[in-house]
Amino acid sequence: MSIDLLFPPLTADNVAELERFGGILKKVWPLKAKHRDHLKYDIRDMSRSLTSERSDRKAEYMSDAKFLSPYLTYFLPWNLYRMSRLFTGLELDIPDGGDIVDLGSGPITAVIALWMSRPHLRERKLNFTCMDRAPKSMQAGLKLFTAMAGTDSPWRIKTVKAVFTDRINRKADLIIAANALNELDWSGRTTRPQAEKLTKHLKNSLKETGRILLIETGVRLTGRIIAEMRSQMLENGFSPIAPCPHTVECAMPSLGKGAPWCHFNFSVKGAPKWLQMLSGEADLEKDGVSMNFIYVSRKGGKEFEAVRTISEPFRVQGGQGQYSCSDKGLTLVEYPNGQDPLAPGELFVPQWPEKPKTDLKSGAITLPYKGKTAKK
Ligand SMILES: C[S@@+](CC[C@H](N)C(=O)[O-])C[C@H]1O[C@@H](n2cnc3c(N)ncnc32)[C@H](O)[C@@H]1O
Repeated sequence: MSIDLLFPPLTADNVAELERFGGILKKVWPLKAKHRDHLKYDIRDMSRSLTSERSDRKAEYMSDAKFLSPYLTYFLPWNLYRMSRLFTGLELDIPDGGDIVDLGSGPITAVIALWMSRPHLRERKLNFTCMDRAPKSMQAGLKLFTAMAGTDSPWRIKTVKAVFTDRINRKADLIIAANALNELDWSGRTTRPQAEKLTKHLKNSLKETGRILLIETGVRLTGRIIAEMRSQMLENGFSPIAPCPHTVECAMPSLGKGAPWCHFNFSVKGAPKWLQMLSGEADLEKDGVSMNFIYVSRKGGKEFEAVRTISEPFRVQGGQGQYSCSDKGLTLVEYPNGQDPLAPGELFVPQWPEKPKTDLKSGAITLPYKGKTAKK
């Protein structure tokens, strides 16, 4: 039986808010017919540009109308969906009067996602500082937030034109950087100094009891970024709350081609129909989305000596296997035929065999597990 599950299904309220967001977008960010007709091409271009043609983009691309409309109508809502799934499963109890910083906030995506997915926070007085080098997208996000939460929301949102390492005035209870750190240069030898500089900055900007949540896109490069940031944060006195069930070396640090990188794929169940349709128009239909992340504090999480499932299950001789993570390193959970495997992101307390075997292909330590339930 698992004791924790990342990315649980969305609540009915969260699903309804995501659906409602389509109407809010139309009202706050109306598109002329000719721009609406062209939207699918702009989305496709931007999707390509956010992955392969990164270097051709100018630094403040998010203030450029060519990028802002596709971002607001397609990338922002998908990020709201991804973050809603994450926030639903994380322990995210920000105290009344708390300070939250969102770095590289774009259209204040993380703030909107928090409001949608954590209704118990809606009545708290929370102070958000959103920082991005492109102010236009933050302004658009603010309008969307106000249309959604109403003008009498107790949330105070300040937007600041700034780069990642600019001074943060008040120490934070929570710092979030979502889908943003990958815009820095992480090539070759820059990886470690980049992580050192950012970690120092985050540490100095955080209250003693504060938490840091770095969310990324789930691709190989961001696997490397998260692993490097994790390593630096651990060296600086932080411990993982999630997803890592241990404080030893990362078992999936994305070191080289073909090497495993820690990321989670999950379904798009509960994503709004209007967004699925728009994705289809742009030839970017989705069955699933992916994410990698690290959530740390000085105290860290409580469940150590547990195993976290990471990959989707796959067929192996005699049943199914699933790459997972434990304090013993990369772990291959093995389910016998006829048993339902766990979903990616579940945590369970293992019963290790006296002499665990090693999987020859991956080098993972193997862990026989009975799975969720016997299939009827
Ligand atoms: C892909 S968007 C992510 C926006 C938002 N966090 C989200 O998840 O939807 C990346 C954002 O990072 C910002 N950004 C990139 N490099 C930055 C830097 N060095 N300092 C501050 N912001 C930066 C960009 O302007 C952009 O708004």
